Amino acid sequence: MRIDILTLFPQMFQSPLSSGIFKRASDRKLVEITVRNIRDYTHDKHRTVDDYPYGGGAGMILKPEPIFEAVEAIKSDIRPEEEIGALQVVLLTPQGRLFSQQIALELSRYSRLILICGHYEGIDERVREHLVTDEISIGDYVLSGGELAAMVVVDAVIRLVPGVLGSAASPIDDSHTTGLLEYPQYTRPSVYRGWAVPEVLLSGNHAQIAKWHREQAVIRTAERRPELLDKTNLTSSERQLVEQLQKH
Ligand code: ADE
Repeated sequence: MRIDILTLFPQMFQSPLSSGIFKRASDRKLVEITVRNIRDYTHDKHRTVDDYPYGGGAGMILKPEPIFEAVEAIKSDIRPEEEIGALQVVLLTPQGRLFSQQIALELSRYSRLILICGHYEGIDERVREHLVTDEISIGDYVLSGGELAAMVVVDAVIRLVPGVLGSAASPIDDSHTTGLLEYPQYTRPSVYRGWAVPEVLLSGNHAQIAKWHREQAVIRTAERRPELLDKTNLTSSERQLVEQLQKH
């Protein structure tokens, strides 16, 4: 997978991209991430990326030309054997569709992603209409730019690329992958400050443990995020459990 990030603040990506999951994915040559400065695609002396809004109003608007040229430069080196349809051009904006594990999974199936980080008061609408193929918001709040949102999206997406997490860790049981929040986990010591690990986890009985995991995930979801259960396949006994919890 290749990810190009277009930003006015490339330095914001330096530290995140050189640690943790980002570094692991690129070291393993599973994901190649390139950060490009939108200013490098301007042609005037002042390297202008923004301008006043037509019709007036507060703030500055990102100009279309550098963004179109940056995306076209990236597209032009797509090899002919690579399908252009395997490319998604994503604008990070509070007006986008709300990011979720489902969308992360969807994006992880593309071989090429271009992420555009918006800034200032907005972006020329023609970028949205004629260049961008998807718009994503990471939550109902306004950030000062799309950079942190792009990092959130890239993190969630690349950990789903096969091989990035390694064989031991699997995203299958993650909260939100199953539609349920994750069950509680414990490690040694088995008793800490008098607080004991649930007996069943020490039993070695894998069927019982799997049953407990599932039950705990259902309970946790019912208590914290009941609305998630509407989209989850529960057995009839699990439904009963949820109904009992909701009575209390
Ligand atoms: N840019 C500013 N706010 C944002 C948000 N909530 N999500 C994505 N991009 C943004």
